[in-house]
Amino acid sequence: MSDTPDRRSADANMQWGGRFTAGPSAVMQEINASIGFDRKLWRQDISGSLAHAAMLAKKGIIPAADEAAIGSGLAGIAAEIAAGRFAFDVALEDIHMNIEARLTERIGEAGKRLHTGRSRNDQVATDFRLWVRDAIDGLDAQVAGLMRALAGRAAEHAADPMPGFTHLQTAQPVTFGHHLLAYVEMLARDRGRLADCRRRLNESPLGSAALAGTSFPIDRDMTAAALGFDRPTANSLDGVSDRDFALEFLAAAAISAMHLSRLAEEVVIWCSAPFGFIRLSDAFTTGSSIMPQKRNPDAAELVRAKTGRVNGALVGLLTVMKGLPLAYAKDMQEDKEQVFDAADAWALCLAASTGMVRDMTADTARMRAFAGSGFATATDLADWLVRVLQLPFRTAHHVTGRLVARAEAKGVELSGLTLAEMQAEEGRITEDVFSVLTVDASVASRISYGGTAPANVAQQAARWLGALA
Ligand code: ARG
Repeated sequence: MSDTPDRRSADANMQWGGRFTAGPSAVMQEINASIGFDRKLWRQDISGSLAHAAMLAKKGIIPAADEAAIGSGLAGIAAEIAAGRFAFDVALEDIHMNIEARLTERIGEAGKRLHTGRSRNDQVATDFRLWVRDAIDGLDAQVAGLMRALAGRAAEHAADPMPGFTHLQTAQPVTFGHHLLAYVEMLARDRGRLADCRRRLNESPLGSAALAGTSFPIDRDMTAAALGFDRPTANSLDGVSDRDFALEFLAAAAISAMHLSRLAEEVVIWCSAPFGFIRLSDAFTTGSSIMPQKRNPDAAELVRAKTGRVNGALVGLLTVMKGLPLAYAKDMQEDKEQVFDAADAWALCLAASTGMVRDMTADTARMRAFAGSGFATATDLADWLVRVLQLPFRTAHHVTGRLVARAEAKGVELSGLTLAEMQAEEGRITEDVFSVLTVDASVASRISYGGTAPANVAQQAARWLGALA
């Protein structure tokens, strides 16, 4: 687009054209207009206007007949937009002026009274809060759905051992159900963050007007209640310039996307051939155009990757906001695309993650086989030395280390050592020690609260399934 001013004479904006004689240059219009993306706010904009008009009429600021005309006019506009019959006009900048201009086109003078005691500054702050609130409710339900899917699979695999890792090195056996329930805990915190964000968000900026409030005898409690807000915001400057609710939403999104990315990474690892712990069906994998054997976990990889755009949105909006003097500045128009994009990405990642969790089949035999490899029950052996022989834990750790070295040299797991070989390191070891070296004994022994014992896991999975029912 050319940056030569191409002024459209006598084409000043119909909403504020009073002191303008010419329209904007093409590039001004391009950088200024938000209708390309803020049309997403049309439902919220109409709800906000209906609440505002009802309040204006109730307070005698506009005639009741005008409110009625505004109500039916806005209903007609809602129908036009829903049916894809609304002609959005970039010259009208944004959703607010597009709807208001169309309203006046439809109902005449009454439409021009709607903006009494209101500004686009409190209007957009209200619309956007309503949009984020709806998004929170939808995403919360999706997070709960993923938790339900995970808890269901956890109940199914409560007693199936797999290797537990730290540093991605074999650490101790855990159950697959326990591993899945760890993600349920993370997602429960994500829901907590959403609820917390929603609670703080739920104040109405409507009536803050441009920045200072208004001289009209408006009733902000009335519009707040009509829109489902708990109360009006208490400071008009803050009301129009606060975007904390969007930032908190993005922070919750970024943390949750990070959780989904960790799960996705595990899915990628688990379904790689050397691991082979799970298999995803054709529904959640893609093939390779050259390598016929391939079954690629693209959905998991994309869940992992989309974390980048969610983090980007958070950092992007923080950066937009960080230097803004009070109150509203047009910079804040850049809040919406970040939030819309992050919300879409988060929703898609939740849907894909839920799909994969439901789809995956676990190779429990293979997981079990690996669960016991890599001396995974070494800690159980050390614990036995403490419990039965009363060795101090540090000494037991040392003795066990020597036994691991022996087994390694012999090329066997700990259970492959003979009693004599054990006794060569610690003379008081008895045959009983072998009972703690199996994977099942190991996981069954982890009965501490929050531990991986199958009985614990079954109970936790049932608790979650009950809570989420
Ligand atoms: N489209 C604008 C936004 O999204 C609406 C508010 C415009 N206010 C103004 N004073 N120009 O932020």
